[in-house]
Amino acid sequence: MDAQENAVYERMAKVYDLIYNDDLDTGFYLAEAKNARGPVLEVACGTGRILLRFLTKGIDAEGIDSSGAMLSELRKKAKTLSLEPHIHKADMRRFSLGKRYKLIIVPYRSFLHLKDDDERMSALRSFFDHLQDSGRLILHIYNPSPDDLERGASPSLLESEDLVSDDGRDYHLDWFMGYDRKTSRAHYRISLSFEDRPEDDAVFEMDLYFLRLKDIERLLERCGFRNIRSYNGFGYEKADENSREVVWVAER
Ligand SMILES: C[S@@+](CC[C@H](N)C(=O)[O-])C[C@H]1O[C@@H](n2cnc3c(N)ncnc32)[C@H](O)[C@@H]1O
Repeated sequence: MDAQENAVYERMAKVYDLIYNDDLDTGFYLAEAKNARGPVLEVACGTGRILLRFLTKGIDAEGIDSSGAMLSELRKKAKTLSLEPHIHKADMRRFSLGKRYKLIIVPYRSFLHLKDDDERMSALRSFFDHLQDSGRLILHIYNPSPDDLERGASPSLLESEDLVSDDGRDYHLDWFMGYDRKTSRAHYRISLSFEDRPEDDAVFEMDLYFLRLKDIERLLERCGFRNIRSYNGFGYEKADENSREVVWVAER
């Protein structure tokens, strides 16, 4: 992946919080971060959906992200909360912060932006090197359904949502997805439209590379992680092939 491949986040940064508006995972990460009793690193922290919550609760947390625009949105939000976040522009596939953490989290499927095992191993090794002994890695991925895998390569409608922004704007989101079996590449198209000002409408395209559960386990093992567990969502029930949102927890 070169810098261009995730340029979508440079364009999306200002409206990211309208598109990724879920709150299903924040309680889980907050509890894990409190239990860690040591420094926390959020990999691919984006606009701070989770990191800023940590900081408002007094948790010792830092973030990295490869997108300058996403980090700049995070900084703006931090300022309104009178917070001074420690964030670094860095690529998860290879980074060196000169510090080790008790907990590293990689929320919201960000790991699936990596396109092959070389990239994934390189990222997992960087995570491992940044963990204290017995420190934990938490990796949230999406496990595709049989229907997802049956989709053709050209994107078709996945989901539509009518929403209202925090400042009262009505807007609409259409999610399209296509899947290419040969490369395991899921191509997403996200179309955002506003009731009040259609000139703000925008379309974003991005790729995720799907992985099978046993491939993730194998990669974690190869990178030296132990006590590897996978959960169905954010409630600590064991994951199986029917789980869609899968949370991996592994230790150094
Ligand atoms: C779906 S967003 C998740 C943001 C945030 N963690 C959250 O939960 O809202 C994915 C993030 O991954 C970042 N990203 C993608 N590839 C990356 C890479 N190779 N290294 C670091 N960050 C990356 C993007 O810039 C974007 O901010």
